[in-house]
Amino acid sequence: MSLRILVINGPNLNLLGTREPQTYGSKTLAQIEQALAQKAAAAKVTLTCFQSNYEGEIIARLHQARDEQISFVLINPAAFTHTSIAIRDAISEIRAPFVEIHLSNVHRREAFRHTSYFSDLAEGVICGLGWRGYLYALDFALERLRRSN
Ligand code: DQA
Repeated sequence: MSLRILVINGPNLNLLGTREPQTYGSKTLAQIEQALAQKAAAAKVTLTCFQSNYEGEIIARLHQARDEQISFVLINPAAFTHTSIAIRDAISEIRAPFVEIHLSNVHRREAFRHTSYFSDLAEGVICGLGWRGYLYALDFALERLRRSN
């Protein structure tokens, strides 16, 4: 069975490239997803990317992941990081390990960004390393999945 990795990006991340580039960098989401897809293809794992600005759609996508036997999730819940118990409950229900990613160093920013509903459930958290944080998280997922297979 091929390993399946799901990448989820939350609200406003569809605007990457033009949204506050001093904070989030100049890569578009499509460019980040392409870099992830290349790395996944080289490792012969199936990688699916999903972005939504709607809490309910992210929850529905996580429910779908339960049926698809997703092995690992990479998620940047964006602003929902700091607000969404509902997405937390959904990700905890699929029981796949996940890494929480933030492009910016949320701990250097406003106090409301210091709280996460995800970090205590995550295998790990990568924040402040820009778009490459996604690649580092994928490296970790590949290594972790290789070890357990
Ligand atoms: C973010 C940090 C969040 O606080 C913010 O709401 C985002 C992006 C990041 O990637 O740095 O939308 O998750």
